[in-house]
Amino acid sequence: MNGKNIYITENFVRHTLGEDSTGHDWYHIERVRKNALYIAEKEQRGDLFIIEMAALLHDIPDEKLNASKEAGEKKLSDFLQDLEIQEAAITRISEIIYSISFKGGKNTKLLSPEAEIVQDADRLDAIGAVGIARAFAYGGKKGQAIYDPGLETRNEMTEEEYRHGKSSSINHFYEKLLKLKERLNTDTAINMAKERHQFMEEYLQQFYKEWNGQA
Ligand code: ADP
Ligand code: NI
Repeated sequence: MNGKNIYITENFVRHTLGEDSTGHDWYHIERVRKNALYIAEKEQRGDLFIIEMAALLHDIPDEKLNASKEAGEKKLSDFLQDLEIQEAAITRISEIIYSISFKGGKNTKLLSPEAEIVQDADRLDAIGAVGIARAFAYGGKKGQAIYDPGLETRNEMTEEEYRHGKSSSINHFYEKLLKLKERLNTDTAINMAKERHQFMEEYLQQFYKEWNGQA
């Protein structure tokens, strides 16, 4: 039963997100699922079915990928209602998805063990080599600069400026990517983040070196 539901969900997500190129494509979902299941196994906690379902569906209601917030929420709930799973499981899966989607560090809600794991898996995919690729892909799609030396790169943008796209992809490292390692929940993810974080620091050093024309 669980296997069948995972299979149906995987096809639904593949079909729904397949065309997206802003960093929420199917391969992002696959990496989040893999990371989430790995963390759960290492940590020996969380319900694996709930974790896998939430990981697969976590971007489905994203406002950016839907006509409106309500349309996204409806897409998720319509899909879950059609599955042959218990109402309690639907509630748990939906709660995870909505509790992890709080932006930045403003998440004061207590997360369930499953939500902690899926959130960590999603955040890990925003850092390291893959995270760097996603940031430039997103920036390209939005038409923002790779780097703008005129922009303060030290995290001093207001929400307003951020939302109006006064950013560059390099600036996004300071706004978000370099902060993520401090915002992880599980020891396993904290360990996985170390190498990825270090890689981003080295990447930035090399970037500035080349930008400034040093050999
Ligand atoms: P999440 O998947 O956590 O909801 P977002 O939807 O905010 O993340 O972003 C999707 C991807 O695009 C992430 O890898 C994120 O780092 C990147 N991204 C978001 N905003 C920007 C930005 N202003 N500049 C560059 N990359 C961004
Ligand atoms: Ni995601």
